[in-house]
Amino acid sequence: MSLLTGANRKNEATCPNVVKCPTVISMVGLPARGKTYMSKKLTRYLNWIGIKTKAFNVGEYRRAATEAYRTHDFFRADNKEAQEVRQKCAIMAVEDACKFLDSGGEVAVLDATNTTRARRRLLVDLIKEKHKFKIFFVESICNDPTIIEANIVEVKVCSPDYEGMDKTSAVQDFIQRIEHYREHYEELEHEKDNDLSYIQIFNQGERFMVHKLAGHLQSRVVYYLMNIHVLPRAIYLTRHGESEMNLLGRIGGDSGLSERGHEYAQKLGKYVQDENIPNLRVWTSELVRTKQTAEFIDAPKENWKALNEIDAGICEKMTYEEIQEKYPHEFASRDQDKFHYRYPSGESYQDLVARLEPVIMELERQENVMVVCHQAVMRCLLAYFQDKSADEIPHVKVPFHTVVKLKLTGHGCECLHIPLLTRRSSLLKSSSTHSDQTDASSLWL
Ligand code: SIN
Repeated sequence: MSLLTGANRKNEATCPNVVKCPTVISMVGLPARGKTYMSKKLTRYLNWIGIKTKAFNVGEYRRAATEAYRTHDFFRADNKEAQEVRQKCAIMAVEDACKFLDSGGEVAVLDATNTTRARRRLLVDLIKEKHKFKIFFVESICNDPTIIEANIVEVKVCSPDYEGMDKTSAVQDFIQRIEHYREHYEELEHEKDNDLSYIQIFNQGERFMVHKLAGHLQSRVVYYLMNIHVLPRAIYLTRHGESEMNLLGRIGGDSGLSERGHEYAQKLGKYVQDENIPNLRVWTSELVRTKQTAEFIDAPKENWKALNEIDAGICEKMTYEEIQEKYPHEFASRDQDKFHYRYPSGESYQDLVARLEPVIMELERQENVMVVCHQAVMRCLLAYFQDKSADEIPHVKVPFHTVVKLKLTGHGCECLHIPLLTRRSSLLKSSSTHSDQTDASSLWL
């Protein structure tokens, strides 16, 4: 979805029914309620689906504007000097967010506490009344002490505020900081905030309250936030084993695995058995080579058409050299912009991202999953988890015969490459120089 640009966006934005009005998503909530986690994740997701998004963290503005953080006293409501600094930092972040939207940005995520009604009214005045952008509030309300404690211990003590401070003192200081905020905290309320659009998320997704959704983008944000969870789990991604078509250096098609591909399938089955992954689910595409690759895995399997390889249209089943000879103009167009390039009668990487969105949404909902897919598909999936830009997607490295394990915790994503077959020294049949890591079809796709 591309939003309005330039002056048009402003003028159009004043009209209440405009669909493509730039939006500020403003977080609300006490410290340690997962606001930064949600801001980062939402920003990554929106960029991945092609909506130009940037997060603005008010804590970073405060750190840049003040000397080294000393104690929670800075956050006391009666610390007038600090209050002024905090107000200025909040306004600076909002103004930068609006500048970003004025210069072509589509969504700005304001990562801040915004715990008082007065602060939220100030945001509405600046964003909606002055700049004519939409504003959507996302409030995280959490009263579960285990969740809060985990957030403080895992994330907050690692904040630059506590650099050089021992863990126990950092935790104590942070708890007192939360108390200063709590004294003046006003949750969003139906009667008092009836004119605002917002979602309230209780205990990290146990319950939701949605109020006055204004448009497609906000619906999409709500849908995403209702699907994510923070339980630690792993996602395993792998390409299918080497196929008969890979051996011939041809792209696409629906061939079975080569001998070496079958060998990988066996190794993969053994790897999964040794890993002993609880409640693992396995997803393959609907193509023979991924189903055969998953053959020895002892876990429930499902096939998704959405996981099929990029459709190379008129280039399907051709070699790199044949394409070059028959469609030389396609080479030039593709080199210019590989992400947007669409194979005649086929798909582009951009199309593929749109096709994979339901897969990402379902991956967010699930726990341990292994996805056995294809090179272009795996590039798009990896790009989502690793926050790669559209330009980078078609160049993400996806080695053959290797499992990529993404260990997801509430606060990050660790990526491990586990090669299960050693590289072959002889060349596959093609005039291009390549090995298992870069087969002929990889060079083109
Ligand atoms: C901070 O200064 O760390 C948080 C700013 C805020 O309250 O939004």
